[in-house]
Amino acid sequence: MPQAQYFNLPVTEVISRRSSIRTYNPAELPDEGLEKLKAYSQEIRGPFSCPVRFVFLEVSSFAEKTGKKIGTYGFIRGAQHFIAGIVEKGKQDLEELGYVFEQLILYATSLGLGTCWLGGTFRRKSLLETVALTETEMLPAITPVGYKARKEKMLNMGLSGILFRGKRPENRSVRPEFSTARQRNPKRKSWPELFFHQRLGRPLAKNEAGDFHVPLEMVRLAPSASNRQPWRVIKREDFWHFYLEPSLLTNKILGFGIQRIDLGIALCHFELTAKELGLPGNWVVLKTNPPSLGAEKLQYIASWRESP
Ligand SMILES: Cc1cc2nc3c(=O)[nH]c(=O)nc-3n(C[C@H](O)[C@H](O)[C@H](O)COP(=O)(O)O)c2cc1C
Repeated sequence: MPQAQYFNLPVTEVISRRSSIRTYNPAELPDEGLEKLKAYSQEIRGPFSCPVRFVFLEVSSFAEKTGKKIGTYGFIRGAQHFIAGIVEKGKQDLEELGYVFEQLILYATSLGLGTCWLGGTFRRKSLLETVALTETEMLPAITPVGYKARKEKMLNMGLSGILFRGKRPENRSVRPEFSTARQRNPKRKSWPELFFHQRLGRPLAKNEAGDFHVPLEMVRLAPSASNRQPWRVIKREDFWHFYLEPSLLTNKILGFGIQRIDLGIALCHFELTAKELGLPGNWVVLKTNPPSLGAEKLQYIASWRESP
């Protein structure tokens, strides 16, 4: 994992600091940070096998070449740079994209840069030519990247109210220093709603999680489309089984399995934290949904197997 040599902060701190930034300072350009992000983006690998690539886009040269704007329906203001995440289609492609792109976003956070996952509110078509998307690839998400404006207003418009819940109250100013995750992050589900022991519906107590309560807490703080937090984790024996509880509305409105990206993000937070804490293990994908866990209605994604 290359993050150890890159991140200048513990990954738990970086995860706690990240939040979606939607208003940027157009005058403060993140040139040095962008060079670092480009270098890092070449090195990140996810647990699955679909190649991910990134295209760095500058708003002014995009407009010059295409005569168009990078359309975000007014959700994002002031951003001068965007990063597009592209994945080769295949089994667990969206999970891989989520894992790898989140690692890049966390690195940007560690550099003091703001980002915001955009899976629904950008004009995908206008970017396809510029990123040279091939028939075997998908462009599921982009993020703006830059320094946040001193004041960020909540963009409380139409669809965003339905899709992107849980954002800051209107006109709340964003302080220049980072505040705690609890203050900054929109509401998150509670531990017993997300983490289970032996079977779904039987909440996992923190002491039953042992050292893994920290990687789980980092999953809990993860960003997700519409803040739905669809990840569910069941602990049994040496396995941590990760599931997706799908929200039909979110997937239907956005037109693809966007919540599989959320699961990739959760796997990323879990693994980076486990590695930082020296908790060995690896991802396995069982051939079938693990039996007798009461989770037959959920979508099985992958399991972390603890190493002795
Ligand atoms: C896969 C994915 C897609 C998202 N798409 C959008 C989007 O299109 N527009 C938007 O404003 N926010 C989008 N978000 C941001 C979420 O609304 C945000 O992560 C969530 O509300 C939690 O807030 P936080 O990121 O500040 O912790 C997306 C998040 C994820 C993970």
